[in-house]
Amino acid sequence: MKRYGMLILPSANRVYAGAAVELTRAELEIFGATVLDGRVGAVQTSTVGGVRYVTFDVDGGLSERDTALLGNLSSAYALFEFVGDLLRPVPLTRLDRFDDDLITIQKYPGKTNEQFTKLLLNVTLLASDWAGDLLTRRFRVLDPLCGRGTTVNQAIMYGFDAAGLDRDSKDFEAYQAFLTTWLKRKRIKHRVLESGPVRRERKVVGRRLRLEVAASKEAHKAGDVQSVDVVNADTTRAGEFFRPGSVDLVVADAPYGVQHGSRTAEQGLARDPLALLAAAVPVWARLLRPGGALGISWNTNVARREAAAEHLTAAGLTVQDQPPWRALSHRVDQAIVRDILVAQNPPLTPHPHPHPHRPRDLALSVAEMCLMRLMRGHKVQDRASGEGGGGRRRLTGVGVGGRAVTGSVSGNAWSTEDTPWTSSGRSSTGRPTSVTVIIKGIPAGASTRSTPTSSAG
Ligand SMILES: C[S@@+](CC[C@H](N)C(=O)[O-])C[C@H]1O[C@@H](n2cnc3c(N)ncnc32)[C@H](O)[C@@H]1O
Repeated sequence: MKRYGMLILPSANRVYAGAAVELTRAELEIFGATVLDGRVGAVQTSTVGGVRYVTFDVDGGLSERDTALLGNLSSAYALFEFVGDLLRPVPLTRLDRFDDDLITIQKYPGKTNEQFTKLLLNVTLLASDWAGDLLTRRFRVLDPLCGRGTTVNQAIMYGFDAAGLDRDSKDFEAYQAFLTTWLKRKRIKHRVLESGPVRRERKVVGRRLRLEVAASKEAHKAGDVQSVDVVNADTTRAGEFFRPGSVDLVVADAPYGVQHGSRTAEQGLARDPLALLAAAVPVWARLLRPGGALGISWNTNVARREAAAEHLTAAGLTVQDQPPWRALSHRVDQAIVRDILVAQNPPLTPHPHPHPHRPRDLALSVAEMCLMRLMRGHKVQDRASGEGGGGRRRLTGVGVGGRAVTGSVSGNAWSTEDTPWTSSGRSSTGRPTSVTVIIKGIPAGASTRSTPTSSAG
């Protein structure tokens, strides 16, 4: 057992009015439970040399991967290992791909603070089926109340695909101007794919900015590009702009009823966000992939936790209600006590053995699973392009329902080697266009061909 002490970012205490240490404790416990195999214990606060640390024990000590994960804690400043009376620095690495002014430079009333946004994104990601892939997966994140893009920027920073939506046109314009200027000023390789009004049946239904960004020239050459997609429309219409099951994480900081109100067609402007949640959560839930997660924060002075949670449950999501997930409430100012609710869209759990009576259903879910593996494989390959080189590349990962998956990708062809299924496919574009799945032990007619939509990745 080894003991560690984490120093939290000095600015965190200012923005959280003293709650930063407790929030770091809760976040650390969530990391411990989800990606560090429950090896983190005795999370406390201790004063060493007059400075407060969040201290914790780790069974077997921290591996390189563990510190690479913990480097992304929202308030992590520095980490030390206790060696007798002394503190030995443990180098922290972060996923961050761009200069941090991407997140900090914009200042405006109603902005969600950056550290809190990172906390909200982290705990949502850790509630998803792909928590263990934090360091390798290109998550697709949607903030359906994105304001001027704090969550979108944090997702870009992490190397994820980022989407946002807000009904406020000034916010949309300000964010569009900020992002495009910032990308140019930093000479970051990017390509605007769409910018302007979106028309359906000759009517303008919103505005959209869609672009591709690459972290470096090498990444761009290797096709390692992130997508950014921001829409100006009402959030209850999110389904008109994003495909069902196309998003891994939905992350939103709901209006507080102070600077911003919640607007719905029925009620107009309201202080509490419940009517907005009632109308919007079912729409957001449909956009989530199975195994994906939704995290929202809101002001508990205007809506109780139980009332907000009911809307998530009613949309078929499973709310995380165990202790560390319940320890994220904190005071922001006189008018705002903010809390976080995180819920998962239950994963598809195909029957582990093909069932002769329902071959078609099973074949479809296997096809979907294989597609997810393939897409994950491409992402792993993207991220690891420096290591693997070309040629055939073996992949291992975790499939739907936590199953271990092995397979290989060679060029655009791929295969998986699981029993009782074998599957193989070919993609002409680097993304799968169609996949044939052969299920051993099921009559040939039960094999299925699945054609994913382009947004599936
Ligand atoms: C707390 S703010 C989010 C701020 C954002 N995280 C940021 O840092 O810029 C809540 C946002 O919800 C938006 N909003 C409220 N009702 C909405 C609706 N019906 N559709 C879309 N956006 C809405 C507001 O315009 C506001 O930008």
